[in-house]
Amino acid sequence: NKGKYEHYMQKEIHEQPESLTTTMRGRLIRGDSSKAKSVLLGGLKDHLKTIRRSRRIVFIGCGTSYNAALAARPILEELSGIPVSMEIASDLLDRQAPIYREDTAVFVSQSGETADTLLALQYALENGALCVGITNTVGSAIARHTHCGVHINAGCEIGVASTKAYTSQIAVMAMMALVIGDDTISSQARRNAIIDGLVDLPNKVREVLKLDQEMKNLAKLLIAEQSLLVFGRGYNYATALEGALKVKEVALMHSEGILAGEMKHGPLALVDENLPIVVIATRDGCFSKQQSVIQQLHARKGRLIVMCSKGDASSVCPSESCRVIEVPQVEDCLQPVINVIPLQAMLIDFNDPMPFDELVVVFLTYKSYVT
Ligand code: UD1
Ligand code: F6R
Repeated sequence: NKGKYEHYMQKEIHEQPESLTTTMRGRLIRGDSSKAKSVLLGGLKDHLKTIRRSRRIVFIGCGTSYNAALAARPILEELSGIPVSMEIASDLLDRQAPIYREDTAVFVSQSGETADTLLALQYALENGALCVGITNTVGSAIARHTHCGVHINAGCEIGVASTKAYTSQIAVMAMMALVIGDDTISSQARRNAIIDGLVDLPNKVREVLKLDQEMKNLAKLLIAEQSLLVFGRGYNYATALEGALKVKEVALMHSEGILAGEMKHGPLALVDENLPIVVIATRDGCFSKQQSVIQQLHARKGRLIVMCSKGDASSVCPSESCRVIEVPQVEDCLQPVINVIPLQAMLIDFNDPMPFDELVVVFLTYKSYVT
C-alpha cells in the first residue's frame, strides 16, 4: 500500500527513518556510564573469531548493493585493520579471480536472489571462503546458502530503484565493522561516537528529508541537461557512484560518479560552463582536499552544485552562481546515509507512477531474478 505517496520509490525514500530504526532494533546496546556501548549481530556472533582471523574481507555485490559496501569499506578497514577488497559479482566471475580459504567473502544483496551474486557465492563456496550474507530477504537463496549473515530488516522494497535498502545496508555494515573491530581502549571513543551516531541517525534522516522540495526544484533545472557529473571521495565516493546510478536509472540521463582524487587524470577535460557538476564536500578528513577540487572546477567555469555540512555554505562556495545543498552533519562514516538522500529525493518526479500501480508483481519478479 502506497498510502499518501504517488509511487513506491517516493514512499520508500520517506520511510527511511523507520526502516533504519528497524534495521538497528535490538542490535545496539547502550551502556550506562560504567559500561561501554556495544553492538550485537546475532547472525555473526558464532563466526567472529573466524572473520577476525581472515587474511582479507572481500565485498561482493552488484549495483546499489556494491555501492553500499563501498561506502562501508573505510570504516571496516579502520576498525578491523583487515584489508578489504571490492568485487562486482560479474567481474569476479569474468576474471575467475583468486578467492582463498583464508578469505571472508561478504555477499551484499537486497533481494538475496541476484543471479551474478549467487553465482559468485557458489564460486566462493567452492574455493573454501567463509561466506557471509547481508540481505533484506529472509529465506532468499543468498540467506540460505551463506554460512552466516545479517538480515537488514528494512522491510519489503518494491520500487525498482533501491533506496531504503541502500541506507540500511550501510547501517548494517557499519555495525559489522564495530563487531569485527577490536574493542580496544584506544578505539573506545570512536566506537561510542559511531554507536551514538547510529542511534541518532533516523532523526538526522528526518531532518535531511525536509530538503525534498528544494531537491525537486533543482531537478527541474537539471532535467533538460545532457549529463550530470557527481564528484566524491573517501566515505562519499560511494555516494557519487550511487547518485549517478540513480540518475541513470530513474531520470534516464547520462551521469557519472567520479572519484575526486582522479579529477586531474582525465575528467577535468570535460568541465566547462555547460556541464552541471555535483560536488560532495561534507565535513570529514577529506574536506580541505574537496575545497581545492571545488576551486579547480570553478577555475574551469564548472556549473557547481555543492553538498556541504550545515553552516559551511560560505566556506565551500567560490561564487554566487554556485548552488548549495546543506545537510546535517553526522559521524563521518555514517555521512553517506545522509548524503544519498537528497540525490534520491531529486529523482522523485522523474518516476512515472503508472507502471508501479499495474505491474507490481512483474517488477517484484524482475527485481528478484534479473541482473
Ligand atoms: C534473529 C531473528 C529475529 C529475532 C532475533 C532475536 C530471524 C530471521 N531473525 O535475528 O526474528 O528477533 O533473532 O534474537 O529469525 N543469515 C545467513 N545469511 C544471511 C542472513 C542471515 O546465514 O544472508 C543467518 C544468520 O547467520 C542467522 C540467521 O540467518 O543465523 C538470522 O539472521 P538475523 O535475522 O540477522 O539474526 P538476528 O538479528 O539475530
Ligand atoms: C539500483 C538497483 C540495482 C540493484 C542490483 C542488485 O537502484 O536496484 O542496481 O542494486 O540489481 O540487486 P540486489 O541488491 O537485489 O542484489
